[in-house]
Amino acid sequence: MESAFYITTPIYYVNASPHIGHAYTTIVADVLARYHRLRGCRTFFSTGTDEHGEKIVEAAGKAGVTPKEYADTISAQFRDLWPELAVANDYFIRTTDANHIETVRRILQKVYDAGDIYFGQYEGFYCVGCERFYMEKELLDERCPQHETVPEHRKESNYFFRMSKYQPWLIRHIEENQDFIRPERYRNEALAFLREPLEDLCISRPKSRLAWGITLPFNENYVTYVWFDALINYVTAVGYPDGENFRTFWPVAQHLIAKDILKPHGIYWPTMLKAAGIEPYKHLNVHGYWNVDQSKMSKSLGNVVRPLDLKDKYGLDPFRYFLLRDMVFGLDSSFSEEAFVQRINSDLANDLGNLVSRTMTMAVRYGNGRVPEPTEAAAEDRILKETAARVVAEVEACFAELGLHKALIAIWEFINVTNKYIVEREPWVLAKDPARKGRLETIIYNLLDALRITAVLISPFMPDTAAKMMDQLGIVVAQDFESIRNWGGLKAGNELKREDSLFPRVEFKKEEKKLEEIQKAVSPPPLKPEIGYEEFEKVDLRAAKVIAAEMIPKSNKLIRLTVEIDGERQIVAGIGNDYTPEQLVGKSIVVVANLKPAKLMGVESRGMLLATDTEGGLTVLGFDRPPATGAKIR
Ligand code: MSP
Repeated sequence: MESAFYITTPIYYVNASPHIGHAYTTIVADVLARYHRLRGCRTFFSTGTDEHGEKIVEAAGKAGVTPKEYADTISAQFRDLWPELAVANDYFIRTTDANHIETVRRILQKVYDAGDIYFGQYEGFYCVGCERFYMEKELLDERCPQHETVPEHRKESNYFFRMSKYQPWLIRHIEENQDFIRPERYRNEALAFLREPLEDLCISRPKSRLAWGITLPFNENYVTYVWFDALINYVTAVGYPDGENFRTFWPVAQHLIAKDILKPHGIYWPTMLKAAGIEPYKHLNVHGYWNVDQSKMSKSLGNVVRPLDLKDKYGLDPFRYFLLRDMVFGLDSSFSEEAFVQRINSDLANDLGNLVSRTMTMAVRYGNGRVPEPTEAAAEDRILKETAARVVAEVEACFAELGLHKALIAIWEFINVTNKYIVEREPWVLAKDPARKGRLETIIYNLLDALRITAVLISPFMPDTAAKMMDQLGIVVAQDFESIRNWGGLKAGNELKREDSLFPRVEFKKEEKKLEEIQKAVSPPPLKPEIGYEEFEKVDLRAAKVIAAEMIPKSNKLIRLTVEIDGERQIVAGIGNDYTPEQLVGKSIVVVANLKPAKLMGVESRGMLLATDTEGGLTVLGFDRPPATGAKIR
């Protein structure tokens, strides 16, 4: 068995609130950490937030607060969410933490001193959503393949990391270590990137363009590129270079990510480590994407699934169970509330819930409220013992290769064999015959011990349910993984506590979320500082009538509007995800009429329409009664 286990999640960007995608990765990390703790392995689990970079500056600007204020608010949402989902991380890192800033500067200096950072010119296409440059050939129809937006063409002087120098080493390392990147499809994807010559990595941004970052130790006019900063979090968290945790948990580290960030983790990070003289991590574990009802989750589609909504509606353990049971690690999965409810009813209410309540009811009814002595074993009991031993071994094998859904299938096989054992042994018939008391007690004992083993096996996945089951079995000493290798670990004489059913059946009611509900649930951004009336007066708000509207070709959400205010004028609005041009024609809207003209995708906009921006999408401001066109608004 491994002596130490270190698992990390990506550190999440603080430009948007947590959704089930983030919850999935973090819960998988939690399950792995709990499993290793259960096996008595020294375990460290770190998660956190990624707070520098242009994305965050943009989001903060929209909310009218500073990047740090914005990062504080969203980082706290992530930090506070995890305990609600029974995620027991050992560390929460923020890239704005002082120890992280120091570590990044230390590593940069080391790589610089070794001659692997140089100054040069860069020209390329930058996608702010991804925070990375793309080569022209990587774009699809001139757009970023992830965000479908048109990246900005940029040319500037910057510092570069000599990543290309480490390409041959990295290819060899991936080839020699079959499970360095797993599952295999992602290993192949990484090797495919490496078939092309690797370019050096641009690792700085001039402060004149972006000041929100970690200042380079060798030139204070530049900040560190956000990925170079963020990846280093994994060593900061364990106290690089001389913390005790670093000695224990590096290089056994395993990273957990989704496929979207394979390149930074599979290519940039190992080469950065190599250049800094740090051994590479042990595994990069890559999972697929959660879609929702077959579509990509996105703010503009209004289909973002928030973990706490599901927890509140259906309970935490069913939520964790569903995420882990329904996604094959490595492949994409589609979330549907209907499928979730079916799983609760079949696997949890029917199989596990029934097993626990039937067993506890019989144990209490036919005994004296205590775990009986098993005095009359029979050959027919072998099926339970043998299945338990096989399932325990299978669960271990599944964990070793991250087949968490397979581990659950194996555990459910044991649950089903136990349910069948009840039906076949018919304890209620034996209960009528006092001469068969010894046999009845043995069967009850076997069922209770099967519950103990089940509780230990499910504890990494559903810690609350496992604790409730232990409590019903009167177990007070924490059970470890070794305790389930042998049959008969449950102490006779333990006091039993029969409780209400663990998983009540639920009904699926398809309900459309009302817009008011969505809006209520989104926490509004903090208010901006006060202004005087004179300042407000400078903004000239007018009622405008939309005369014509059309999508701007090649953009996915910009609409060109012809509006009437003091005559006709053209404005451009990014509302194409929420409105069709036809829906806008004829509407009276509110326009900031004295905003300096600006060009959006080459089209001039003379003014800006007002709209609210919530997770449900954009809503354009209108009027109760038709206003006079051009009327002043205050
Ligand atoms: N800040 C970077 C990561 C830096 S790590 C050094 C980042 N942040 S992120 O907020 O965009 O998080 C991406 C990660 O969130 C994915 O790799 C995955 O772990 C999780 N997910 C986000 N959306 C997801 C789905 N729809 N489905 C599954 N996981 C997803 O990238």
